[in-house]
Amino acid sequence: MKKNLSYIYLSILLAGLLVLVACGTNTDDGASGDDTTTDEKPVLQVGTDAAFAPFEYMETGEIVGFDVDLLAAVMEEAGYDYELENVGWDPLFASLQAEDIDLGISAITINDDRKESYDFSVPYFESTHMIVFNEGAGITSAADLEGIKIGVQNGTTGEDAAEKVVGENSSNISKYDTTALAFVAMANGDVEAVVTDNVVAAEYTKNNPDANVEAITDTESFDSEFYGLMFPKGSEYTDDLSAALTTVIENGTYEEIYQEWFGKEPDVDALLN
Ligand code: ARG
Repeated sequence: MKKNLSYIYLSILLAGLLVLVACGTNTDDGASGDDTTTDEKPVLQVGTDAAFAPFEYMETGEIVGFDVDLLAAVMEEAGYDYELENVGWDPLFASLQAEDIDLGISAITINDDRKESYDFSVPYFESTHMIVFNEGAGITSAADLEGIKIGVQNGTTGEDAAEKVVGENSSNISKYDTTALAFVAMANGDVEAVVTDNVVAAEYTKNNPDANVEAITDTESFDSEFYGLMFPKGSEYTDDLSAALTTVIENGTYEEIYQEWFGKEPDVDALLN
């Protein structure tokens, strides 16, 4: 009987030890599990309008462009995973406002109007506007937009620039969902000129030699502006990604990407000023 009892005590002791060991392991697991969750950053949802070559456009089913490569560099620097989706231009603003996505990269101009509803990173690209028109239309300055049919992408600063010249309610301005569609409208003869960002205008002219178009700028009428990453107002990611963008601009990665897409050196000082 005594022997039996000691066996029982021993068994209880062993069982107790086992439970302790098991609990110990569990607590450890729990702790390291918690650690990983706090260290792990969320997968950020990024939106764009991929009809704006060379900044973002579709190529064999993939979104490519200068912005796409820059985004990858910034996310790597900041340590975030992300998914980039081609949501379209107007939906991009709505999705950000609804906080369905975390940020937008889409050659988005930083301006006071937008700053009222969104937050921006530091600037990453300087731009101005150009007028693209059918060769021989004889447009030499922005003033020549008066009285002709103009195509713009709806809700862009190109629309603002055209409206500044011919008036906000001009019936001569046709607004398209994408800049690519505005170019199609010009090729079809629906509009005679397109006002858009200078690099996009130059790219279209270069890539469509058969379209017989020209592009001019007008520094008197068109201001310089800067692109930034755009966030919902009060976003917790603005500072982090802005800092990463600055690092990427300062450490030469930006210059590499810029060289790849534009074949020349960027004016980094103009960005960092
Ligand atoms: N920079 C201009 C703006 O912010 C045009 C941008 C259009 N971008 C695009 N991906 N469609 O209004």
